[in-house]
Amino acid sequence: MSVTIKSVTDGAIQEAAAILRGGGLVVMPTETVYGLAANALDDMAVARIFEAKGRPQFNPLIVHVADAKQAQDLAVFDTRAKAMAEAFWPGPLTLILPRRADSPVSALVSAGLETLAVRCPAHPAAQALIRACGFPLAAPSANKSGEPSATTPKHAAESLGDSVQLILAAGACAIGLESTVLDLSGDTPVILRTGAISAEDLAPILGSVGYESGQTDKPKSPGMLLKHYAPTIPVRLKAVDVQPGEALLAFGSLKFMGVRGGGAAKDLPEGQCINLSENGDLTEAAARLFYALRELDRPEFKGIAVMDIPETGLGIAINDRLRRAAQGR
Ligand code: TXA
Ligand code: MG
Repeated sequence: MSVTIKSVTDGAIQEAAAILRGGGLVVMPTETVYGLAANALDDMAVARIFEAKGRPQFNPLIVHVADAKQAQDLAVFDTRAKAMAEAFWPGPLTLILPRRADSPVSALVSAGLETLAVRCPAHPAAQALIRACGFPLAAPSANKSGEPSATTPKHAAESLGDSVQLILAAGACAIGLESTVLDLSGDTPVILRTGAISAEDLAPILGSVGYESGQTDKPKSPGMLLKHYAPTIPVRLKAVDVQPGEALLAFGSLKFMGVRGGGAAKDLPEGQCINLSENGDLTEAAARLFYALRELDRPEFKGIAVMDIPETGLGIAINDRLRRAAQGR
């Protein structure tokens, strides 16, 4: 058996919804990364997600809804949460909220926590699929545990193989980084995972918002463990040259980049160098980051040298993922 990949059509959405209704798994496109979806109300279906991802332990999953109204049946929305949904949904913002006492969501989704992560994706295919199902979808990124998130149908297929029945294909994800995870379950709002929506974006509504470092042994957001995002070969950050045998993850101009022992980075063979953005555009770089890490993660390379990326705007989230990739093996 090999996985079926289908472009998004009404027929493919109906087929995917039928698989999900039967307790199966479907890969769906979202604006951030591809998601490995299951019926969030069905314990067995949710358990299959952990099986397919090969997760070492049960990390809590994000529940995807079609709109804020659907989310309010699952979790407790205070005025802050309502304002966030109003301002940023549909979009790349996940809210951690108290579970409702009568929440129908499988306890396995929250991995035993009293809180629930909810997100309303903006991608039309994800929207159509959730509406066709009529139930919310639990969906982590569509890759094996510990690997960079899949941002193309090809990478989802390579990573998950036969453990998923259908992949809904809609090209590369527009954002390419996972959603911002904002914890609103306590008195002070905290960003547990950086993403396309920044603390500055939230500030006009929430006031100043802090970050949880996530670099500790016991991160509050278990998915933030360092080994997540790690390729199988070493990753070297802030590289100013390329060592022999290394692949290059470039950003901006290659003009001044050399290969130690002789040669120029711009002459590296095709496949050994991927430029996240030749113009130094951080949005373009974010969208290509996980794609590039996966493409360069090949045993014939000694490692991946990564050029310096500015720590501003989306660069903050990009560097966060790259630090995990560098430290997490
Ligand atoms: O962009 C995204 O968020 C993608 C797409 C598919 O929507 N999904 C995604 O899911 O990245 P996943 O499972 O790879 O990451 C979920 C993150 C993890 O860091 C997890 O620990 C955190 O959300 N999380 C989920 N539920 C939580 C909870 N109740 N409390 C704290 N953190 C939670
Ligand atoms: Mg993930």
